[in-house]
Amino acid sequence: MNPFSSRPLAEIPDNGALGVVVPHEAAWEHVTGQALYTDDLPYRSANVLYAWPLQVFAAHARIDSLDATTARTMPGVIRVLSAEDVPGINDYGDIGDETLFPDVIQYHGQPVAWVLAESLEEARLASDAIEVSYTELPSIITIQDAIEAEAFQGPRAILQRGDADTALANAPHRISGGIDIQGQEHFYLETQASFAMIDESGQVFIQSSTQAPSHTQEVAARVLGISSSQVTVQCLRMGGGFGGKETNANAFASVAALGAVLTGRPVSVRLNRTQDLTMTGKRGGFHATWEAGLDDEGHILAYKAVLTADGGFSVDLSPAVVSRALCHVDNAYYLPNVQVTGQIARTNKTSHTAFRGFGAPAGMIVTEDLLGQASTKLGIDEEEIRRRNFYAPGQSTPYGQEVSQAKRMDDIWDTLKKTSDYENRLAQVAEFNAEHQHVKRGLAITPVKFGVSFNKPVLNQAGALVLIYRDGSVLINHGGTEMGQGLHTKMLQVAATTLGVPLRRVRLAPTRTDKVPNTSATSASTGSDLNGGAVKNACEMILDRLAPVAAGMLGVHSNDVRITGDIVSGLGVEKTVSWTELIETAYLQRVSLSAAGYFRTDGIHFNLSTFKGNPFKYFSRGAAVAEVEVDGYTGAYTTRQVDLLHDVGSSLSPLIDLGQIEGAFVQGAGWLTQEDLRWDTSDGPDRGKLLTQAASTYKLPSFSELPQVFNVDLYVHPTDDGSVYGSKAVGEPPLMLAIAVREALRVTAAAFGEPGVQVELPSPATPEAVYWALEKARRPATAPAPVAE
Ligand code: MTE
Ligand code: MOS
Repeated sequence: MNPFSSRPLAEIPDNGALGVVVPHEAAWEHVTGQALYTDDLPYRSANVLYAWPLQVFAAHARIDSLDATTARTMPGVIRVLSAEDVPGINDYGDIGDETLFPDVIQYHGQPVAWVLAESLEEARLASDAIEVSYTELPSIITIQDAIEAEAFQGPRAILQRGDADTALANAPHRISGGIDIQGQEHFYLETQASFAMIDESGQVFIQSSTQAPSHTQEVAARVLGISSSQVTVQCLRMGGGFGGKETNANAFASVAALGAVLTGRPVSVRLNRTQDLTMTGKRGGFHATWEAGLDDEGHILAYKAVLTADGGFSVDLSPAVVSRALCHVDNAYYLPNVQVTGQIARTNKTSHTAFRGFGAPAGMIVTEDLLGQASTKLGIDEEEIRRRNFYAPGQSTPYGQEVSQAKRMDDIWDTLKKTSDYENRLAQVAEFNAEHQHVKRGLAITPVKFGVSFNKPVLNQAGALVLIYRDGSVLINHGGTEMGQGLHTKMLQVAATTLGVPLRRVRLAPTRTDKVPNTSATSASTGSDLNGGAVKNACEMILDRLAPVAAGMLGVHSNDVRITGDIVSGLGVEKTVSWTELIETAYLQRVSLSAAGYFRTDGIHFNLSTFKGNPFKYFSRGAAVAEVEVDGYTGAYTTRQVDLLHDVGSSLSPLIDLGQIEGAFVQGAGWLTQEDLRWDTSDGPDRGKLLTQAASTYKLPSFSELPQVFNVDLYVHPTDDGSVYGSKAVGEPPLMLAIAVREALRVTAAAFGEPGVQVELPSPATPEAVYWALEKARRPATAPAPVAE
């Protein structure tokens, strides 16, 4: 007997599944290693072919010839896939800039062909035997070089309100600056994986580690030149996505599908870590320059900035990333006169893509940097200058949306200041710094206000399929994907609560495009809002049909039927019937027991050309206090304490939400302080190569970098304008709470110098970067310039 087969469901109450502390629905499977991922599904038979890519290691090159004659004769080789094999469109993007089997290499390591063989090893050996010759072309690696060469792609966006130039000219104080914000590797534990097979009628089935099964289905159908109805995409779960599987899965799913169609055999594509690091898009870096005008009290009067995103070789999601960056430069602050330009650099790197926060983190950092500088320049306390700039009720964002629930920010801020003992600790830090010359501490508090909904209104829709069987058991399907974030757990809770049955009655089936069509990617943190709305809608449709049946059984009006905890009762009558009796009676009365639910977010609109509208259903908020200690000899630091307070409305699932907040914060802190992507920018033979190709050179946060004291609280106050049952999205917003760590490091570096010394800190603020920043603060005249990257 399997000792782990029964989950501790007994601990879960029969009533009120919503807002109750329940473990992740697959927690047992995750920790016991039983959870299945794409690469270990049981229906992978012995007949599987394995795919290996032929990567070309040049930043930019024209392929002159590709000769697979020898490779084809090698042991185990079944087929070599290249451009001429594509029956449909040889592109996995939406606008034709992402060739699946390219004749021009756009980044170091781009695949040109794929070998299918009986074993992975045979495929690998054969790919080495393919002879490829190419001519190198001039390449652009850095954002700076792209800006100089005016190498841009996609649309340019302009966010404008008031008259920033005049306001700047008239402002009592003017400051300006610039910052380079590095990108980030997703480093999901499960690398990109797809598995494809065809059935006897030629129907293509793809199990893919994708955040967007419908998009993967569309792209694979396009590559194969067949209709979407002939392709089914399933995503059982992902071992992490973080945005990296929002579009990046499509190419690999297409290769697997093409291989299956051409050979008639199941095909597995799974990247090893190096392939994944060198072939898939990341969070793109940003280069920003800004100017601001402030009054004597520190209010921002004018704000001008240019944000350039590193898009990599193709457009992909970069326009949406830039839109979100522009919609979040305001963060929690009222900016009366604004002019911000957003543009996308085209570089010879992997195509940068979605990553938790989706541009918003970069937008916010620019403004937090600005406020940090302003605080020093104007001599206003860091906390105070932020608080003074918060939105007041009735004010609107630069893109014209009124900021709903503005007061929540003040309340979160004041509450956190109290619970973290901010004022006292600030005094203690000052005391410590007065006593220590070579070790300094610093404390910072920063806010987050994050807009929830896809910026593109059309994407804010979702579907679900709820089935009730004759024995009363419930099976739910929805269009969202599970990547560890606990979406499925929340959907089970929503269904159980809406139907009034215990959680154990409800089961959830893997996400599949033949159950729910035309779904949006699970991203922008909207998974539970959108799919929860659809699951609830489907359950309510069934309840509407069950009510008259129950009314007949109980002898009450159907409006007076209540179902809770598996018991069906009627207002004013003693009699009750059980859920199972109700379902059986409904079946006997020929009442349909399944429903396709649908949800769309109402009241949102956005005009991309004027950059105005109401793109967000609501705002999610939080605040963070971080305390760090920095060693003046090395720049090495520890995060002594972090206190987070985050608004999730009425939490659907508090344990899941806590996990999301902790995980997002740590991921954000990793990005801002440790993870350092480096590409070879020399003119040597490795130009364009990602130098940080493994966990040995790309430093991820681990237990040792966790804050020594880590307090995380939910700001649980019921809210009306949230989404499902008053809850709020949680997936991305807490990532930006990590900006507090960066600010704390900047303040601490400054503490090594005279009061009022200006410190600029690059991102990531690695120990090396912190060292050069504090060295400059300590010896402004003699210190060498920080090593620019
Ligand atoms: N949490 C885990 N464990 N793994 C992930 O891949 N992705 C994040 C976030 N939390 C992610 C995660 C990202 S980028 C998003 S957009 C949301 O989850 C998506 O899920 P949701 O909309 O259901 O919150
Ligand atoms: Mo998340 S970056 O929106 O997948």
